[in-house]
Amino acid sequence: MAFHGGKDRLVYWAVQLACFSPILIFVLQAFTGGLTANPIEFVLRQLGVWGLRLLVVGLALTPVARLLRQPGLTRYRRAVGLWAFTYVCLHLTTYIGVDQLFDWRTIGKDIVKRPYITIGMAAFVLLIPLAVTSMDRLTRRLGPRRWKRLHQLTYMVAPLGVVHYYLLVKADHRPPLVYGAVVLALLGYRLANGQIERRRAAARKAAKDAGKSQPLRA
Ligand code: HEM
Repeated sequence: MAFHGGKDRLVYWAVQLACFSPILIFVLQAFTGGLTANPIEFVLRQLGVWGLRLLVVGLALTPVARLLRQPGLTRYRRAVGLWAFTYVCLHLTTYIGVDQLFDWRTIGKDIVKRPYITIGMAAFVLLIPLAVTSMDRLTRRLGPRRWKRLHQLTYMVAPLGVVHYYLLVKADHRPPLVYGAVVLALLGYRLANGQIERRRAAARKAAKDAGKSQPLRA
């Protein structure tokens, strides 16, 4: 999507900077000894949390835009979605390269035997077509209808991310439950809104058809 005005551009870059800032903070923490006693686990987990947060923000942008009557907000969905994908990719890369040191046999076993890894992997796989089709050329080639249908996958990815989180925490289940409640509310909104839109479209079509079947008066 093109950003024309100076203010639009400024907001766009502010969004990009906001999404990038967790990485800047990790780098800063790395130099100041802030990555805790277990830096690998800390970074792995933080990257996962940021992936999930941005997935949720991406889902929330449309309802928030409607609520605040700021339709322009929806223009940042792609940027936020791509950042969510970036964090999940870094999360997965940290797991494969730093946590498991490319031990493919153990990674394979984890994917098959540990349900939270299986579900995380499923979420990641579903994110790939979303990220790929975010490129302008492919978006145009797909057409708005198919693009929209495909991008409804986000409504599966976020819940899978939440389940992944819920299954891996051992003690305090409150954080994943909070994410779960937010995702559920956003899903509920999406379903209700979809139904209202379908009803409106059906009413419009019925009105149009009724207009067509009126006999012509002399
Ligand atoms: C959309 C995809 C994903 C999301 C949203 C996500 C999110 C998360 C979150 C929120 C956490 C917990 C952070 C915390 O405890 O504070 C986490 C941890 C973790 N995730 Fe993911 N994740 C995803 C995909 C994956 C994939 C594909 C893998 C590996 C194949 C993976 C492996 C892990 C591991 C190993 C941990 C840490 C477990 C531990 O420390 O015990 N995740 N992830």
